[in-house]
Amino acid sequence: MFARRTAWDLTPTELAERVACRRAEGRLVVDGVDTNPGRCGILRPGEILREGLDRLARDPRALRYEPDPRGDLDVREALAGLYADTGRSLGADRSILTAGTSEAYAHLFRLLADPGDRIHLPSPGYGLFAHLAELEGLEVASYPLREPGPGRGARWRLDLDALAADLDERSRVIVTIDPHNPTGSFVDPADLASLASIAEERGLALITDEVFTDYATEGHARPGPSELGDAGPLRFVLSGASKVLGLPQIKVAWIGVEGPPALRNDALARLEFVADAFLSVSPLAASLMPFLLAHRDEIQTEIRARLSANRAALAGRVAAWEGVELLPAEAGWHAILRVRRPAPAAPDRPRSLDEEAFVLALLDRTGVLVHPGGLYDLEPRDRSGRPCKHLVLSLLIEPDRLSRVADGLEPLLAETSAGLDAPSLRASDEPSV
Ligand SMILES: Cc1ncc(COP(=O)(O)O)c(C=O)c1O
Repeated sequence: MFARRTAWDLTPTELAERVACRRAEGRLVVDGVDTNPGRCGILRPGEILREGLDRLARDPRALRYEPDPRGDLDVREALAGLYADTGRSLGADRSILTAGTSEAYAHLFRLLADPGDRIHLPSPGYGLFAHLAELEGLEVASYPLREPGPGRGARWRLDLDALAADLDERSRVIVTIDPHNPTGSFVDPADLASLASIAEERGLALITDEVFTDYATEGHARPGPSELGDAGPLRFVLSGASKVLGLPQIKVAWIGVEGPPALRNDALARLEFVADAFLSVSPLAASLMPFLLAHRDEIQTEIRARLSANRAALAGRVAAWEGVELLPAEAGWHAILRVRRPAPAAPDRPRSLDEEAFVLALLDRTGVLVHPGGLYDLEPRDRSGRPCKHLVLSLLIEPDRLSRVADGLEPLLAETSAGLDAPSLRASDEPSV
C-alpha cells in the first residue's frame, strides 16, 4: 500500500517515550534542549510580532490574494538589503521564499536530484536533513567533520578527502551548515574554496544552510563572504525567520541563488515552477516580514545576550566538574558537553553508562532532559580517540532553567567521574530538582 520511502520505524525512542510518560503523569520535566524562543522567555520577537500583526490588521492589502510564486517582492528586496550590508550580492531577483527552511531543502532536492541520486551531508549533524532527503527518494551519504586538535580553536574542518573519495556518478548535492549545528563551527574559508572547486569540477551543486549565521559567540566572527561571485559552482544559501528573527511560527524562509548566471537563472526559473505548484508561503506571513526584518537587530541582540550569558554560566559550572569539558564553539544555539570516561580501576568494575543510559538516568532521577550526542552522530570519542560521552544542551533556555539543568547534571556527572554511575542507576528516584 505505502511507498518504500515512508517505511520508517515510527516507534518512539525510549527517551521520547519516558518524557511523554512523565509529562502525562504530571511529573517534572526540565527541558534542557528547548530552542523555541517563545518558550524560552525570549520576549522581543513576540513584542515585534504583536506590533506587526496590529499593523497588518489595519492594512487593506491583507485582504487581497495576488501570490507571486517567488514570494512577496517587498520581502525579497528587504532580504537583498540585508545581504548587501554583509557584502553579499543576492538581489531580489535571486531569491525564492519558502514556508520554512525544511521546505527550502525539499524544493532544492527536487530541483537537483532524482530518486536514487545521492546527497552528501556533514556528520555529526542534525538528523532532519537526512529525513528530508529520504522523503524525496534520495540516498544520503555522510562526510566527516574533524574536530580541531587541543589548543587549535573551535573550528571543526570538513574532511574533504573523505568527501571526494565518496563522490560518484549519482552524487548531486553537497550540503554544509554554516555555522554548523551542533558543533557551532563556521565553515573554514579554505574548506569552502576547496569544496567549491570539487563541486565545480564534478558538476555538483552546493547548499549552505546559514540559519545560525548571525549568532557568533562572543570573541568570534563569521568569516567574510566567499569571493566567488558569478564564478564557481551553482550555490544555494538558505536561511529563515525561525532563527534570524526567533519566530518559527512565521514559517517564512528563503533560498538565495549564487553562481554562474546561466545556471543561476535556469535554477531560479525551475525553482519558481516548483514553488508555484505549492504557493505555500502565506502572503499574510510574508507581508509581516519587511517590518519584522527591520527589527532584526533588536531581536538578535536579545537572543545573543541570552546565549552569551548562558554559555558563560555553563562554563563556570563545568569548570568545577571533574572530567567534563564544554566544547568551544564559534556560534549557534547549542552547547556540547564532553564527559570523559574514568579509566577502569579493576576488570570487574562495571562499565560507565553510555550516553543513552546516562540521559535516561538523568531524566528518571532528576527530571532533567538533555540530548545524547549520538542523536547528532557525535562519535563517543574525544580528540585523541579516547572513549567519552557527549551531551547536547540548548543555550537559549532561561538562565534559571539552565541552572536547574546543571543542578541535575552535577551529581550524576560526579558519579560518572568517580566511575560509579552504572551501579547507582535507579529509575525509581524521585525528582531532586
Ligand atoms: C541548521 C538548521 N537548519 C534548518 C532548521 C529548520 O529551520 P526551519 O524552522 O526554518 O524549518 C534547523 C532547525 O533547528 C536547523 O538546526
